[in-house]
Amino acid sequence: MRTQVAIIGGGPSGLLLSQLLRTKGIASVVLERRSRDYVLSRIRAGILERGMVGLMRQAGLGERMDKECYVHDGTLIAFDGEEIPIDFKALTGHSVTVYGQTEVTRDLYDAAEADPGRVLTECDEVMPHDLDSDKPYVTFVKDGQTQRIDCDYVAGCDGFHGISRQMIPAEKRREYEKTYPFGWLGILSETPPVHEELIYATSQRGFALCSMRNENLSRYFVQCPMTEKVEEWSDDRFWDELRRRLPAHHAEAMVTGPSIEKGIAPLRSFVCEPMRWGRLFLCGDAAHIVPPTGAKGLNTAASDIHYLFNALVQFYEEADADGLERYSETALTRVWKAERFSWWMTTQLHRFPDQTDFDLRIQRAEMEFLRDSEAAQKVLAENYVGLPY
Ligand code: FAD
Ligand code: PHB
Repeated sequence: MRTQVAIIGGGPSGLLLSQLLRTKGIASVVLERRSRDYVLSRIRAGILERGMVGLMRQAGLGERMDKECYVHDGTLIAFDGEEIPIDFKALTGHSVTVYGQTEVTRDLYDAAEADPGRVLTECDEVMPHDLDSDKPYVTFVKDGQTQRIDCDYVAGCDGFHGISRQMIPAEKRREYEKTYPFGWLGILSETPPVHEELIYATSQRGFALCSMRNENLSRYFVQCPMTEKVEEWSDDRFWDELRRRLPAHHAEAMVTGPSIEKGIAPLRSFVCEPMRWGRLFLCGDAAHIVPPTGAKGLNTAASDIHYLFNALVQFYEEADADGLERYSETALTRVWKAERFSWWMTTQLHRFPDQTDFDLRIQRAEMEFLRDSEAAQKVLAENYVGLPY
């Protein structure tokens, strides 16, 4: 087989890149290890920045999203029983969009059905070769048969645990990592959201987040130690803990019901530099991870795809490799800003096991400053709605 761009990983990054390239007549093949149903069963991000919304439209996939999404013009930050409304629209002129990663991925898989062979699922032993030559190729096993795709470029979109990042020789690669001493216990429940906007709440018992997918599907999270087991969290225990972390009137208004999904995820900040090696380009979680507190994971993957897509178009349409040469530097500049914001949100809104009284006072001062300063609210809003590409 031969293609122009071989894409490893059929999550949102890989599928979106392939779909965008298709609009310019650039051929690609996506190699995904799992089945389509498995990928669609992963409940992940829920908030799209305008950049990601724009990319979906550019890819020709705006229709269902525009019909079914919910536009949010602000959010609530709650602390110690107080509430700070952050009015994104008034502060920045922009909003965010509630449309789940599952829906994004479903739209991308559905679109790929028009081109049989563009997205191959259940591929084992995917391995790129000769990335530092001008004739790279990727081998994989599908239906028991080893196959080979020759290509011009390889996009490593295979997430944090993929193989692409490992292809950059250790001496050329630098990894920056921070882990946090807690995780997020999250549930999905077929209940109306407690409030029309998201609520990010910090309290003496720790962080909580009230999010949603639609008017009868809520997504709630509480900070918990990573030593906790999900089996130890009955629905009743979860709802009790969530209520105790929210301002009283929201706790009272909360409609509870059985959870339809429940899981604990670790929180991590991670960046790999560079994001390009030879003819390999890393995108999304393959290159960087943020803790979910700023809703930046999927959105930062999207900005990588924007930069790589435009660089590939520049190369194929104008024979100009400048964008490809600069991809790593360009993408990393924006990645680090998302890392900073996600770290800041996480640090300010969570309780840390080793926090001193001084640290707690500083957190409180941060919240009071946010409450009282429009400039501080604007900084939060500008980052939350998404920095420009
Ligand atoms: P992924 O979605 O990880 O996709 C990578 C794909 O590559 C996967 O389908 C995988 O099966 C495939 N793959 C891996 N290895 C190989 C291989 N060797 N060969 C072939 N294919 C391979 N972000 C938010 O903004 N908000 C959230 O609430 C949120 N919640 C999250 C919860 C969890 C549990 C996790 C893990 C992430 C969460 N994120 C969240 C982050 C967000 O989901 C990711 O940033 C986003 O999925 C990145 O997309 P991606 O395509 O780069 O990577
Ligand atoms: C979600 O709805 O899954 C969600 C929303 C905002 C976040 C994290 C997760 O910051």
